[in-house]
Amino acid sequence: MPSEFPEFFDGSIKITPFCDIHLTSKYVSWLNDPEVVRYSEQRHSTHTLKKCRDYLDSQLQSDNYFLAIEHQGNLLGHIGNIGVRVDRHNNIADLAIMIGDKRAWGKGLGSHAWKVVMKMLLDTLNFRIVTAGTLEVNAAMIKLMTNSGMQIDGIFPRRFLWEGSEVGLVMASIHSKLS
Ligand SMILES: CC(C)(COP(=O)(O)OP(=O)(O)OC[C@H]1O[C@@H](n2cnc3c(N)ncnc32)[C@H](O)[C@@H]1OP(=O)(O)O)[C@@H](O)C(=O)NCCC(=O)NCCS
Repeated sequence: MPSEFPEFFDGSIKITPFCDIHLTSKYVSWLNDPEVVRYSEQRHSTHTLKKCRDYLDSQLQSDNYFLAIEHQGNLLGHIGNIGVRVDRHNNIADLAIMIGDKRAWGKGLGSHAWKVVMKMLLDTLNFRIVTAGTLEVNAAMIKLMTNSGMQIDGIFPRRFLWEGSEVGLVMASIHSKLS
């Protein structure tokens, strides 16, 4: 397990390590909602509390960070997660986000959480590069990545089969100013 991910909160969101209190049927229902996982490889699986507990345990035993996003003021509570896959050898962190509570979509909360975590990884935890990838049909995610200062490094054409079509994988990154 790497160093603890620093907890963040402001008037709008809290970012905190994902723990037992986030392991709820609400969370499992996001992963089983075809609309939420439409652009995610999670769409190929059926999820249960037991599988989610096993995933949390595997993340706790790894170098990765698994973070919960909470809507502050507890209006919506836990609204989503950010996973950070850590490559210690190359000092790279790969980010993935899911805002599972659809009431929270389109309000800027995903972008805000993404920028906070990205900045923390580069400026506080001293990663060299932060990377991310998404299907080329996921317009919101591509906007979120580029609006946060990431550059598109390339598109792997036809990498995925999505809703009956071949779809490319868009790869993006941001480099530390110090590297
Ligand atoms: C993709 C996701 C993280 C975006 O988070 P969000 O909080 O809903 O998005 P934001 O409100 O921060 O908006 C981000 C940008 O996308 C745009 N956007 C939001 N929804 C959109 C949509 N349905 N279509 C196109 N653009 C959209 C916003 O206008 C904004 O761009 P702008 O700043 O230029 O206006 C969130 O919707 C989500 O988790 N979806 C399901 C899971 C998923 O697809 N995860 C990514 C897998 S790689």
